[in-house]
Order: sequence, then C-alpha cells, then structure tokens
Amino acid sequence: MKVTVVGAGAVGASCAEYIAIKNFASEVVLLDIKEGFAEGKAMDLMQTASLNGFDTKLTGSTSDYSKTANSDIAVITSGIPRKPGMTREELIGINAGIVKSVAASLVEHSPNVILIVVSNPMDTMTYLAHQVTGLPKNRIIGMGGALDSARFKFRLAEALGAPISDVDGMVIGGHSDKGMVPLTRMATRNSVLVSEFLTEERLNQVKEDTKVGGATLTKLLGTSAWYAPGAAVSGLVQAIACDQKKIFPCSALLSGEYGLNDLCIGVPVVLGRNGIEKIVEIKLSDAEKAHLNESAAGVKKTNGLLNA
Ligand code: 2OP
Repeated sequence: MKVTVVGAGAVGASCAEYIAIKNFASEVVLLDIKEGFAEGKAMDLMQTASLNGFDTKLTGSTSDYSKTANSDIAVITSGIPRKPGMTREELIGINAGIVKSVAASLVEHSPNVILIVVSNPMDTMTYLAHQVTGLPKNRIIGMGGALDSARFKFRLAEALGAPISDVDGMVIGGHSDKGMVPLTRMATRNSVLVSEFLTEERLNQVKEDTKVGGATLTKLLGTSAWYAPGAAVSGLVQAIACDQKKIFPCSALLSGEYGLNDLCIGVPVVLGRNGIEKIVEIKLSDAEKAHLNESAAGVKKTNGLLNA
C-alpha cells in the first residue's frame, strides 16, 4: 500500500506521521514545493521508526511527481492555512489554483489513485478535484466531518465530564463555521442519548463550540491546527487501506442523496478498499434537514467562486 501526502507543512507532516505510526502502509511519499523540505521531514520521521516501532518507509520529494507513481491513496494538504480571523472560504483564490495542479499531477502518475482532499475551503476543493480529474465519485473524498466529529466528541466529553471513549457523535454538512451540522439529537454516552444528561442549553453550547472548533485553535495557534486533522486523515486512509467498511462523515459528491445535487458536502459514508463504498442516508429531523440545506446553499455559493 503506497500513500502519497502532498504538502509537508504541519498538517501534511502530521498525516504522514500518524499513517506511519499506525504501521499499515508499506510506503509513504511526502511531496512539497519547498526545496528539500519534504525530504527533511521524511528523514526526520524515518528516524523515529525504531523508537516508535513502525516499518513504513517514508521518503520525500521536491515537486517530483514521478516519485508518487502508482500510489493507492493520495492526500492533498497543499495550499495556505487560515490566519486568525479568516474564514476557510477566504482561502479559495490561492488554494484553487494549487489544488487544481496537484490533483491533475497526482492522477497523471497514479491513474487508479483514491484522493483525499484536506485543503480549504475543503468541500469546494473536493468538488474542484472532481472537475479537474473526472475520477469516479467513490474515488474522491473530502476530509472534514471526521475532524469535526472528533472535535464534537471532545466537547461532548467535556460537557458530560465523561471519558471520550464513552462518547459517540457525528457532524455532517459543510466544513465551515456556519455550515457544520453537529447531530446532537443522536449523540450518545455509552448508548444513552446525551439529552438524558445535558440540558438543551448546554447541548446548544456544545454545538456552537464544535462549529468554531477550527477557528478557536487558529486564534490560539496563530495558524490552523494539525494534530487532529492529521489523525482524522490517517483514520480515513487506514479505513481504505485495510478495507474496514467503517462509517465516517466525509465530503462526497451527491447526486440526489439527501435531496442534494451537484456539490460535495459532509454526509455519512462507508469507507473501504474502493473508497466511498456507500453513502448512508440517515433520517434527519426537519430542523437538521433545514440546517443541512442551508449548509449546502453556503457550499454552492463558494463553489460559484470557482468560475468567477
Ligand atoms: C481545521 O478545521 C484544517 O480545516 C482544518 O482545523
């Protein structure tokens, strides 16, 4: 199993590190445009192999896509991250050009690749990757919901005073401060609905804290986060590489599912060796449906900027 990670910045390096540590891939290629940077990161990570006990071979490349040839999975993290006060949507001008050329170069060297898009604004960049490559729907996956759900579980555990392993919950919708739809109604603590433990007011606070999860970190760090994004990507890569058939909320190209068409947005999907093996349509309440529709309108508005 060969995995390429494009972009050796904090998110890309963190993806490579978590993938390597989990020890399911034979090879990870890290690629960046900055001369020597990916090679350096890969070498540094390789020197953790004996300490962390993994056999995954990490190599780096400066813009040489021939090194990524025949990758099974490729992760696109390239582009600029947001600065404090910026929305993910404001990155579109620079990131669209980058994602376009990266996606085309990856597919040129790995025609059977499954792409995972992380660059922001992620739902629109996932849609753009479809436009550029024409790959089948199952082979382009946007990473947002897995991260947002991890942040949701963190906030739920905090509110409940419970360990995170006791908590389950999912965030669907767009990967943006306004677009996320945390499904508080269905969240559980060890099979018991969290509404049994938390007031509506506290649950609303959890919802709001989840939606600004990325912005909160950007303000604290001065740039966007990397540990949880890297761990979320490694979870998706592992589910595909190991054919796990796990459900994650991911940005997928919709053709009628949830009553939505011609956009990529976060919905629950089954991930296995073929990428998105199934889009799972769960029954939403009227309020959740309305929130998802509003979120979809926001994503479509940002998609409209691609041709502006
Ligand atoms: C985040 O939410 C990078 O968009 C990513 O942290």
